[in-house]
Amino acid sequence: MKQIFPGIFKEGRQLYTINLVPGKKVYGEKLVKKDCEYREWEPNRSKLAAAIVNGLKELSIKEKTKVLYLGASTGTTCSHVSDIIGHDGVIYAVEFSERVFHPLINLAKERKNIVPILADARKPEAYSFVEYCDVVFVDIADPQETEIAIRNAEEFLDCGYIMIAIKSQSIDVTKKPDKIYKEEAKKLEEAGFTVLQTINLEPHEEKHAFILARK
Ligand SMILES: C[S@@+](CC[C@H](N)C(=O)[O-])C[C@H]1O[C@@H](n2cnc3c(N)ncnc32)[C@H](O)[C@@H]1O
Repeated sequence: MKQIFPGIFKEGRQLYTINLVPGKKVYGEKLVKKDCEYREWEPNRSKLAAAIVNGLKELSIKEKTKVLYLGASTGTTCSHVSDIIGHDGVIYAVEFSERVFHPLINLAKERKNIVPILADARKPEAYSFVEYCDVVFVDIADPQETEIAIRNAEEFLDCGYIMIAIKSQSIDVTKKPDKIYKEEAKKLEEAGFTVLQTINLEPHEEKHAFILARK
């Protein structure tokens, strides 16, 4: 295994994180036992993994990082972030669908660094108890996604990073995806963020990009 970022490993074309809860799978992923137990991380199932294999240059998530994660769903990507940040990091995992929130609660019972929050990311005042974080990670497929990311970053980021998975089809089906990615990056710049990288996530996620920006 070759370490490509702190807590993230590669063997051949495959990505791995070290399992925080050895012996336990989260979504049917492969477990590989070597010097320790690794969990396979599929770029077709996680936009963060897709961004990494497609050339993300800087990863702001590492041991002890505090992450506000908007759109946690059942916790597929959250579980790998949980592996990376370890016992001393924390993920405030916001999700507004009750259907997927139950599996997220079960995941949080096993992974104590995940704090599940049933709330709407458009209303950050509902989770004002969340502390300042190092990273605001957004994957909610909402037409106002960038604006929601900015509002949350204003609330919960002192200085740190914003990471947004942009689904162009959710923003405007009539526009070319590349134009949408530029427009969303411009919104971040106008709000005072420095856009560090925009990564196209194809072929893993059709018409999606990932934007990394710093506050
Ligand atoms: C594409 S899925 C997220 C997948 C997840 N990030 C992963 O990689 O494992 C988008 C999720 O965002 C949630 N969502 C959409 N709008 C939201 C909002 N305003 N507040 C909270 N959650 C939202 C949806 O219910 C859905 O579960």
